[in-house]
Parts: sequence; C-alpha cells; structure tokens
Amino acid sequence: MKLVFATNNLNKLAEIRMLVPFSIEILSLKDINCNEELPETSDNLEDNAAQKAFYIFDNFGYNCFADDTGLEIDVLDGCPGVYSARYAGEQCIAEDNIQKVLSEMKGEKNRDACFRTIISLVIDGKHFQFEGMVEGQIIPEKWGNNGFGYDPIFLPNGFDESFAQMSIQQKNEISHRGLAVKKLIAFLKKKI
Ligand code: IMP
Repeated sequence: MKLVFATNNLNKLAEIRMLVPFSIEILSLKDINCNEELPETSDNLEDNAAQKAFYIFDNFGYNCFADDTGLEIDVLDGCPGVYSARYAGEQCIAEDNIQKVLSEMKGEKNRDACFRTIISLVIDGKHFQFEGMVEGQIIPEKWGNNGFGYDPIFLPNGFDESFAQMSIQQKNEISHRGLAVKKLIAFLKKKI
C-alpha cells in the first residue's frame, strides 16, 4: 500500500517511517512533486488535518494522511494550541516560540500541558480520524537537543527526561503522534 504523508516536516516523516510496517510505503510531498504550501486555515486541529489530507487526495489523487498537532498549556487557556507553529509570529523559528512560552509562564506554579495530535486519513475519498495525546509539564529551561519544536521544554509525566533528551524511538513510544500513528496503523492493518 502507498500512502502520502502530507507534511513538509522531515522530523515528522522520520518519526512515522520508523513506526509503519514495510508493507506500507510512505511517500513524502517531494516524492509526488507537491511543492506548494498546504492549506490549514481552520481554528482547530481536526479541521486542519482534514483540510491537508483532502487537499492531496483531491489535487494529486493519492490516498493520504496528514497530522495537525498543538501544544496546549493549561494556564495559557490552551495556547499555543492550533497556533503552535507560528506562536511568536509569521516568520518565527522554534526557538522564538520556546522563548515566548517560557516568558509567558515565568513564575507560574501550574506547568500542566499536553501535546495533542489529530491524524486525518483519506482512503478512496473516505475520511477517518485518529487522536493521540500526552500529558506533561513545561519546564522553565531547555533540556536536550534532539527532536524539534517545543521538545526541549516538554517533560512528559512519569519521565525525568524532556522529549529533546529522548531518542526518536523513546519519544515515539509515548508521544502524541506515536499514539495517533499506532491507531492509524492498527486501522490500516485491518485493510491490507
Ligand atoms: P503542525 O501544525 O502539526 O506541524 O505542528 C505545529 C507546531 O507544533 C510545530 O511547528 C511544532 O512547533 C509543534 N510540534 C508539533 N509536533 C511536535 C512535537 O512532536 N514536538 C514538539 N513540538 C511539536
């Protein structure tokens, strides 16, 4: 089975390629010559994931899945949430987002947060969604250099290493995206 993963994020591609069985070939956007920015104009993860997956199915004709992820922080009323990628502004990089979160949470006792991923799968025009969530704490400084995005400041509950201190395999075991992908794979295995 061939499936396009509708992302330009090479870290996400690497994470997911480690999880899927050999019988499922994951194609990147580059593999299908899709060089455009995918639309994600909604204010929630569910609709954004669906928008991206249907964009590829409708315009390129491939069965496809897309994910949308947000970091939801309790004392920030669920922000950055669906705006996680550009929390510090349109042109920002991950470091800017991290510094914005750390400054907004300076002195806060409640550090509770979660990562939530929604995966939309479009197969032959039919749409299915899978959710993965991991709870943790926002630590007041960066730990580790692995991973991407907010990984250095996210300490999953029950662990003493941030996501950025874990290997891809360790992170996949417990992460939002790892959990959502496991649900996706269980579903696909019933189809192939
Ligand atoms: P996206 O819209 O699903 O690509 O995710 C939005 C933003 O959330 C990304 O640009 C990252 O900043 C952040 N993000 C998504 N997944 C992760 C993760 O696994 N670790 C850390 N940050 C993440």
